[in-house]
Amino acid sequence: MNRGKISVNQKNSVKLLEISCLKTSFFTHLGEVKAVDDVSICLDESETLGIVGESGSGKSVTMLSVMRLLSDNGRIVSGAIYFRGRDLTKFSEGEMERLRGKQIGMIFQDPMTSLNPVFTIGNQLTEMIVRHLGLGKKDARDRAVEMLSTVMIPSPVQRMKQFPHELSGGMRQRVMTAMALCCHPDILIADEPTTALDVTIQAQIIDLLKDLKSRTGTSVILITHDLGVVAGFCDKVCVMYAGRIVESGSSADIFYTPRHPYTKGLLKSVPNPKKMMKERLVPIKGVPPDLLKPPVGCAFAPRCDHAMKICILRRPPLFEVGDGHGAGCFLNHPDLPASA
Ligand SMILES: Nc1ncnc2c1ncn2[C@@H]1O[C@H](COP(=O)(O)OP(=O)(O)OP(=O)(O)O)[C@@H](O)[C@H]1O
Ligand SMILES: [Mg+2]
Repeated sequence: MNRGKISVNQKNSVKLLEISCLKTSFFTHLGEVKAVDDVSICLDESETLGIVGESGSGKSVTMLSVMRLLSDNGRIVSGAIYFRGRDLTKFSEGEMERLRGKQIGMIFQDPMTSLNPVFTIGNQLTEMIVRHLGLGKKDARDRAVEMLSTVMIPSPVQRMKQFPHELSGGMRQRVMTAMALCCHPDILIADEPTTALDVTIQAQIIDLLKDLKSRTGTSVILITHDLGVVAGFCDKVCVMYAGRIVESGSSADIFYTPRHPYTKGLLKSVPNPKKMMKERLVPIKGVPPDLLKPPVGCAFAPRCDHAMKICILRRPPLFEVGDGHGAGCFLNHPDLPASA
């Protein structure tokens, strides 16, 4: 039995997923790495959320915290993760095992580390279906074959007999997608599902996710470096920097009216197909901070052209800059003193 309390929001409706003030750290011989530092995210039924940010910003660790799959030295330090109103941080390991794959499916960043190299694709899919859906072996195999064809793997019956290393990167990614979807989860978390793939295969995987989403209504959380993918796919976007959300809003808010210098920098550093050749790409100068010693003030300040005195001294909260649009930058402070 889950002992977590039911979280009900102001409209008296229970959210599908509500991450509230989450802090996750890794404890290393050098000290505490604050990988996720006070992150709050909401996801509704059938919604698609994009999480973007540079490498090391805490995107994967946030979602691995939701799945409670952190490495041994990692721990949720504080905060809550409500799934349909129940706090997953209070779930026992047995309860989490029943939830993983069945209610929340995840496509992991590296398919080779998450597919078991010593079992065939068929074995791994069938085992998961038997465990979560309670089907008999034969029905589970039929369902596994059906899932492989759903993700457009040619000759699925033959593929069932193959081992992960016998498949190309694109095919492995499809198998991971099939595994994540085979029990019809309420939420699919896709962690950089296209990064290691070439451009044509990337487009195929994204089309596949779009198609599966429109057919099944599953809510999707897409973690990616690729802002282009986010624009065409996501209803809303969270931009992460150094373990925190620095801007969140609808895709339109983030792309047309970004209010954080980091988001603006990210947008300038990716190609815009509509303006092809007309504009120069500008990388964001500098590097993210060391999370063992995060700065007292805004973590982006050392790289920011607009940094003010207050940015070095204090951490900006997420200022509301529009309906459902927040930006963690003092430039959005409603009455910022001129001397700041
Ligand atoms: N097991 C670990 N021990 C110590 N630090 C860790 C561990 N796993 C992750 N980290 C640190 O946590 C921070 C966030 O990592 P995370 O994997 O979430 O980044 P990310 O945004 O997913 O990056 P990428 O885009 O490269 O996948 C990084 O600074 C990383 O070095
Ligand atoms: Mg990652």
